[in-house]
Amino acid sequence: MGEGKRIVVDHVVHGFGGRRVLDDITFDVDGHELVCIVGQSGCGKTTLLRIMAGLLRCDSGAVLLDGRAVTAPSERTAMVFQHFGLFPWKTVRANIEYGLRNRGVRDPQRVDRLIETIGLKGAEDRYPRQLSGGMQQRVGLARALAVEPEVLLMDEPFGALDAITREQLHDELLRIWAENRSITGIFITHDIDEAIVLGDRIIVMAGGVAAHIIDVPIPRPRTAQDARVHPGYPELRRKVRKALQFG
Ligand SMILES: Nc1ncnc2c1ncn2[C@@H]1O[C@H](COP(=O)(O)OP(=O)(O)OP(=O)(O)O)[C@@H](O)[C@H]1O
Ligand SMILES: [Mg+2]
Repeated sequence: MGEGKRIVVDHVVHGFGGRRVLDDITFDVDGHELVCIVGQSGCGKTTLLRIMAGLLRCDSGAVLLDGRAVTAPSERTAMVFQHFGLFPWKTVRANIEYGLRNRGVRDPQRVDRLIETIGLKGAEDRYPRQLSGGMQQRVGLARALAVEPEVLLMDEPFGALDAITREQLHDELLRIWAENRSITGIFITHDIDEAIVLGDRIIVMAGGVAAHIIDVPIPRPRTAQDARVHPGYPELRRKVRKALQFG
């Protein structure tokens, strides 16, 4: 396994109908880093993620993945969406297998391992409507991981979940990050605590720019609880909060 791909977001500008949403976004992400992006609703987080995924072209600037410009969706990048985005007519197993099948890969053992990792054993043959929100989002995560992406882009994936389920999934994601050194991740959230628990760094978006980039000095591997009881936590929280308030 590699060390994860390096991402460079280089002076990205984007507008819709003459209204600029992303004014000049610049930051980079090291291989295997998990960077959280926080910002107020409507500040352009999803737009930025779509550009990073190659789903939307920026007006100017570039996103580079290991030095190569991202211009179209790639097999190397997977996304997890806020509203699960599962195929309702496919079972759990078929949803997870989807990306693999598209690539002509049949690997039932890999799918079994993922079902186990993500805590869905016994639910393989159910349909999304027969699952709780937390289970559906586990399927979304497993589906993204199935293709062994080098970059995982997550757009408020746990936003719709209750606090307990959300914390379980935080621990799962932290564990996946500790065990798999070949993924680089971007995680968008509104939630300051979630950003601190998960991130190596936090980017605060405001006014169409990456207004603040804040280090999270909490060692890995870690659990959500480890992060919360870390002595630096309250100060970090104040810092992110202030950055969000004042841009
Ligand atoms: N396809 C589109 N056409 C026109 N305007 C759009 C389009 N997509 C997004 N916008 C506008 O761009 C701005 C940024 O939207 P975006 O979805 O990126 O925000 P966000 O930060 O993800 O918000 P939220 O936290 O609510 O998800 C918003 O004002 C939105 O209305
Ligand atoms: Mg959004």
